[in-house]
Amino acid sequence: MFTGLLHTHKLVVILFLLLYLIKTILLLANKKETLANFSKKLRIPEMIISVLFLLSGIVMLFQLPSINQFMLIKIVAVFASIPLAIIGFKKSNKILATLSLVLLIASYGLAEMSRRYVKKIDVPQGTITDISASDYNALSHGKALYLGNCVACHGTDGQAGIAGSKNLTITQLDEAGIAHIISNGKNVMPPYKKVFNDQEINALVKYVWSMKK
Ligand code: HEC
Repeated sequence: MFTGLLHTHKLVVILFLLLYLIKTILLLANKKETLANFSKKLRIPEMIISVLFLLSGIVMLFQLPSINQFMLIKIVAVFASIPLAIIGFKKSNKILATLSLVLLIASYGLAEMSRRYVKKIDVPQGTITDISASDYNALSHGKALYLGNCVACHGTDGQAGIAGSKNLTITQLDEAGIAHIISNGKNVMPPYKKVFNDQEINALVKYVWSMKK
């Protein structure tokens, strides 16, 4: 459900941006009549797109496990762009309309930054992370990393399914596939290749693999 919503949101956002890009270009080019015609013809689709845009965004927001600073700025930018666009087009004010479009495009970039933003939670003290230590155990290392960094979406048992996350106990992936997802992320799951080193990813893979029923 969440992933479907995410894809709908992305599609609607692209349509919304396209619509406002065309309208802003027409306004900047002083094509008043064309702009009036365009706006009139697309009034209903524009309303539908706007409602879907906001609704899908708000519903997803409530399902995210946490909201980072990029997401906060994005929300402020989106909500600031709405009155600017309304006033900008009503009064044919080029500066306000352009500012609104810039805020919308910036929000798009902020969304991507927000997805990639990961705060690494280090393993608790006492966890053996030295691979050359005689009592190093990749599974325990992986579990410690998992409990700090993955439970917000996957839950302690791997089955929480928060924000569209998959049930890890029934994954169809092999170890290479699991490593690929952890490194590169997918949908709401962030990419972890810059957060964890190879050894840590390997430990996580071992632990996720051990959860499989
Ligand atoms: C912000 C939420 C979030 C966090 C945090 C998160 N994941 Fe995920 N994870 C997801 C989502 C969403 C998917 C499903 C992606 C898809 O296929 O659409 C997923 C999928 C996976 C999969 C693939 C399962 C399958 O069968 O396709 C693995 C493995 C995985 N996560 C491991 C981890 C590990 C290990 C961590 C911690 C380092 C982690 N995840 C942190 C959201 C998250």
